[in-house]
Amino acid sequence: MTGAGTAASAAPARATHSTLKPGIKKDLFGSLEDGTKVWRYTITNRSIRVRIITYGGIVQTIEVPDARGRMGNVALGFAGLGDYVAKNNPGPYFGALIGRYANRIAKGRFTLDGVTYQLPINNDPNSLHGGTNGFDTKVWTATPGSDHGDPSLRLDYTSPDKEMGYPGNLHATATYTITKDSIRIDYRATTDKKTIVNLTNHSYFNLAGEGTGTIYDHVLQLNAHRYTPVDSTLIPTGQLAPVAGTPLDFTKPTPIGDRIRDGHQQLVFGRGYDHNWIVDGSGLRQAARVSEPTSGRVLTMSSDQPGIQFYSGNFLDGTLYGTGGHQYRQGDGFALETQHFPDSPNHGNFPSTVLSPGQTYRTTTVYTFSAR
Ligand code: GLA
Repeated sequence: MTGAGTAASAAPARATHSTLKPGIKKDLFGSLEDGTKVWRYTITNRSIRVRIITYGGIVQTIEVPDARGRMGNVALGFAGLGDYVAKNNPGPYFGALIGRYANRIAKGRFTLDGVTYQLPINNDPNSLHGGTNGFDTKVWTATPGSDHGDPSLRLDYTSPDKEMGYPGNLHATATYTITKDSIRIDYRATTDKKTIVNLTNHSYFNLAGEGTGTIYDHVLQLNAHRYTPVDSTLIPTGQLAPVAGTPLDFTKPTPIGDRIRDGHQQLVFGRGYDHNWIVDGSGLRQAARVSEPTSGRVLTMSSDQPGIQFYSGNFLDGTLYGTGGHQYRQGDGFALETQHFPDSPNHGNFPSTVLSPGQTYRTTTVYTFSAR
C-alpha cells in the first residue's frame, strides 16, 4: 500500500539480479564409475548465483549481472560430470580446488627435516597442482550452512599420509560463502606430520560471458610491483624481479592483450602470461581488478596470500567445449590463482609453505563482482 510498493510492482518483470532470492539448492550432478554420487549445489544471493559440485569442489558456473542488469555466466566450465572427470586433469583444472600444492614443484621433489619426498611428475619435468590425482579429482563432503545470513557450503576432504607422495594425514576444508555480490573462500588445513600446503581455486573467467571469445580486451590491474621470473619449465629462478619496464607491469590498468605477443623471454616461456606476481603489502588486501568494457562487469580479488598466478588461458587449444556448448580457444578465459609462490619448498628466500602438527593453515580469498 506504500508508494514504493506500487512503483515496484508497476515495473516490468525482468530476470535481473534484483529478483534473486538467497538460498541453497542441491541436485544430483552424476555418479562416478565406482558409484560415488556427485552433488551440485546452486547457491544464490542478491546479485549472484554460483554452482559448485562436490567433485573437486569445482565452481561450475558464476552468474552475475552486467551493467544493464542482465545475468551471464562468467566462469569457464563443463556441462557434465563426464567431461570434468575425463578432461579437467590433465587439462585446464576449470573451477577446481587445487591441493595439496598449487602450482609447480621442481622435479616433484622437496626435502623436509632431511627426508626427501617425491611427487608425481605430471607436467614434465615438474609436479603441477598436487599431482596426477590432486584435490581437484576428489569428492569432497559438503555441508551447507550460513554465515551472518549469507549461504555457505563447507567442503571437507582428508588426504591420507603419502597420498600423491606428500607426508602426513592432511585434513582440508574449503568453505564457499556467497555474499550479496561476492564469493569468499576460506581454506583451512591441519596435519599430523610436518608437511607442505598451498591451496587455491583454479576458476577461469570471461567477464563478457564464457564462450564469447578472448579475454584480451579485459583490462587488468595487479597490485604487484614484483614477480618471480621462471625458467623454460615455468619453475622460479629464485629472483624477486621488478615488473617495471616489462610487459608484466600491470600496476596501471592495462588490456591483457596489449603486450601478450611481446617477444619478452618470460612471455615466450609462458606462451603468454603464466606467472606469479608478488602482491604488494600483507594481510587481506586487493590483489587484482579486472574490468570488461562491453558488459561493464568488474571483478576484484582480495586475498591474504603473498602471491597471485595470472594465467591467460594459453593452453586452451580449441579441443574443449564449455558449459554453453562453445569451443574454448587460446585466451578465451583467464585464471587468477591466489597462492604461495611456486616451488617455495625449494627456495629458502620465499615465504614458507610448511605446516606442522598443532598449527592450522588458514587463508581467505574474496572474488567480488560489480558492473558499471
Ligand atoms: C596453471 C599453470 C598453467 C597451466 C594451468 C592449467 O595456471 O600455471 O601452466 O598448467 O594451470 O592448464
